[in-house]
Amino acid sequence: MVQITTALNERPAHAPRGQRIPVAVLGATGSVGQRFVQLLEHHPWFRLHEAVASERSAGKSYREAAGWKLDTILPDEAGNLRVKELGADLESRLVFSGLDSSVAGEAEELYAGRGCVVVSNSKNHRMGDDVPLLIPELNADHVAAIDQQRRRRGGRGYIVTNPNCSTIGLAMAIAPIERLYGIDQLHVSTMQAISGAGYAGVSSFAILDNVIPYISGEEDKVETEPRKILGHWDGSRFVPAEMRISAQTNRVPTIDGHLMTISLSLRKHDANFLERIREAIETFIGEPQKIGLPSAPRRPLHYIDEPDRPQTRLDRDREHGMAVSVGRLRPCPLLDLRMVALVHNTIRGAAGAAILNAELLEAKGLL
Ligand SMILES: NC(=O)c1ccc[n+]([C@@H]2O[C@H](COP(=O)([O-])OP(=O)(O)OC[C@H]3O[C@@H](n4cnc5c(N)ncnc54)[C@H](OP(=O)(O)O)[C@@H]3O)[C@@H](O)[C@H]2O)c1
Repeated sequence: MVQITTALNERPAHAPRGQRIPVAVLGATGSVGQRFVQLLEHHPWFRLHEAVASERSAGKSYREAAGWKLDTILPDEAGNLRVKELGADLESRLVFSGLDSSVAGEAEELYAGRGCVVVSNSKNHRMGDDVPLLIPELNADHVAAIDQQRRRRGGRGYIVTNPNCSTIGLAMAIAPIERLYGIDQLHVSTMQAISGAGYAGVSSFAILDNVIPYISGEEDKVETEPRKILGHWDGSRFVPAEMRISAQTNRVPTIDGHLMTISLSLRKHDANFLERIREAIETFIGEPQKIGLPSAPRRPLHYIDEPDRPQTRLDRDREHGMAVSVGRLRPCPLLDLRMVALVHNTIRGAAGAAILNAELLEAKGLL
């Protein structure tokens, strides 16, 4: 079980002055939305002020509308909020989005147009020309694109996104390798938990005693998003990293946690590449660790030595679900190396990632 009360770092950080910042969550009743509500309960900078969902939920108490499904107690303050309908005027300027993608694109644009800072999980704007696709440990400097986005929209509002849940685990696990040697080609196969499909996603009859070798739209996201994340902002556009990626994505009967097996070839080689990569994974840190953001894991990547790890149930909650676990780094007879990575899909892969993105924006004076 995730210990939310201790999930936040106690070391000094760029705490905002005065009271906690009021925030709204769009799609607050869903799988990702409920994680937002859970992670915001004890957040030192942000306070859940508004919950927004569909007309099916609007007007009900959050307790009634959400049918709380997480393994911590629903906070009373959140349970008593009256759910607002998507499109309603909001009092919060910072807006997290865990909306279904059928409505996320238009709704997020609407709120950004009204001057809100929209921090989204949904796929709709991820590949936008001036929309940062952020993993703060990897590409915090991509926030430079926000200026261009504000100019285009002609206001203070903007959208930042976090990647697809599998992409986050993959991009974090390979970032030290890309920096050291460059990656030429990569193949990844995922084993993805059912919470990644949302609450209405996969019926128990379909997934129990089964593996489904298809997740709609997923392979394209895993093949394109890492290239934007690991690329650079040249002042007017994102230049993608050059690597080629082939992905196969599978739904498996676990609740939370996306496990993936990765094999890849390098652009450069030396005799000690496996040792050097392992050391780079173990010592990897980024801007959130340097500036002490409250939700940042102490170490974003953990290398596990046991030959049968990482495992979904045993390792997904490492650093309260915010760290990616890596193991089984070894040579590959076809490409250069193979390894296994694991990410908690609704925490580091969704709500926790978005909250870390918002912390970065606050620390950089962009809220
Ligand atoms: N689950 C994951 O691991 C994960 C990871 C990364 C990204 N994402 C992305 O995050 C988003 C949410 O995913 P999820 O798994 O949380 O989905 P979900 O459990 O199905 O929740 C969807 C949310 O969107 C709301 N919604 C649906 N249709 C709506 C409409 N017509 N108008 C207004 N609100 C509407 C729902 O409100 P009602 O309850 O009122 O219907 C609910 O709050 C998706 O875009 C998904 O791709 C998910």
